[in-house]
Amino acid sequence: MKVGIDLISFYTPQYYLDLKTLAGERGVDPDKFTIGIGQEKMAIPPPDEDIVTMAASAAHPILEQAGREGIELLLFATESGIDHSKAAAMFLHGLLKLPTRCRAVELKQACYSATAGLQLAASMVAAQPDRKALIVGSDIARYDLRSPGEPTQGAGAVAMLVTANPSVLALDPETGLYAEDVMDFWRPNYREEALVDGKYSMRVYLTALEECWKQYTERSGRQFHDLARYCYHLPFTRMAEKAHIRLAKIAALKELTSAELETEIGDSLRYNRITGNTYSASLYEGLTSLLDHGADDLVGQRIGLFSYGSGCMGEYFSGVVQPGYRDHLFTARLRALLDGRTELTYRQYEDIFQLGFPTDGGDHAFAQYRTGPYRLAGVSQHKRLYEKVI
Ligand code: COA
Repeated sequence: MKVGIDLISFYTPQYYLDLKTLAGERGVDPDKFTIGIGQEKMAIPPPDEDIVTMAASAAHPILEQAGREGIELLLFATESGIDHSKAAAMFLHGLLKLPTRCRAVELKQACYSATAGLQLAASMVAAQPDRKALIVGSDIARYDLRSPGEPTQGAGAVAMLVTANPSVLALDPETGLYAEDVMDFWRPNYREEALVDGKYSMRVYLTALEECWKQYTERSGRQFHDLARYCYHLPFTRMAEKAHIRLAKIAALKELTSAELETEIGDSLRYNRITGNTYSASLYEGLTSLLDHGADDLVGQRIGLFSYGSGCMGEYFSGVVQPGYRDHLFTARLRALLDGRTELTYRQYEDIFQLGFPTDGGDHAFAQYRTGPYRLAGVSQHKRLYEKVI
């Protein structure tokens, strides 16, 4: 029996800062951001949007299409948690009106946790094929103003319905894993902004990739040429290029031409270039981008996926694209969202950045900005108040 992703939907906020604007403010050559790092725009959530509203907006089209019946597992992957105790999954469960017979929890391991969610969900469905699982990854990537990480900020959420006989991607059972306690990127509970040793994080990412790949190939017997396309965790798109060049070198003893690089990973990078890092969602944003953009029909093709979360946890796995997958994508909806976004000035970006979340326990109603179908209406007595917009 096949198990995997039946539906996948990506959502990103409707405001962005162009990195050329940021480069101008910081006195940096714009090519450093657009070529050196490989990013053009970064998504900025307005004050009435958070990880819960983004996750709900990502999941909304899936529930419209597939309904709620049979969803017995809700896993919320994030590293931008809003509460030490109550899982973001509970707020999401309420907003989406999911069945009360449901196991709902939050998962954390930096940008890796949605992959943990996907694999846990696949195990549950393999054991109980009549059940379904909804996995979301939702994050706001945030670094200090004027820090090297600043141009790699972004925001977004992915939602995936995991079922038996999936419509989009059937997962292969073999995976390669790598866990090691390192300090390459972290976000202490008393800070909203991540701390990162950027160059070190890139080295650890590549080590994790090599180790995971080795194990994946040993377990599956597959080699580099068995995979038609490759998706990577995307802290910034240039990282995927570096990773894929390294993988080709160690796995196929091959120097990739730029045409091969473009064919093998190009389509997976297109959304991330204009949203920025979406942490736990980023690998799956890449998968969505690949499936949405591919001019070639990918039916029957095997896709390699590398998930990485600083700290660090890596996993290499793969899946096969299913017949008729294009009929199950939300391509037009996402394209309309991306085409209709509002560009922010530098001043607006910094004003939103500096806006602190109220912590006084009073009643605060938030001004309404452009959001998806759900928004954060305010906070009262330390309780977040969400509402449906449409
Ligand atoms: N034109 C074209 N390329 C340029 C350029 C220009 N004018 N100026 C610089 N570059 C290139 C550099 O050569 C470099 O490329 P290389 O990596 O191939 O050598 C790249 O742009 C970045 O420049 P660098 O000086 O190394 O940037 P930085 O010190 O500002 O830091 C990051 C870049 C990516 C390390 C930083 O943004 C960061 O820490 N981001 C967060 C990383 C992260 O999220 N890690 C955790 C998860 S994996």
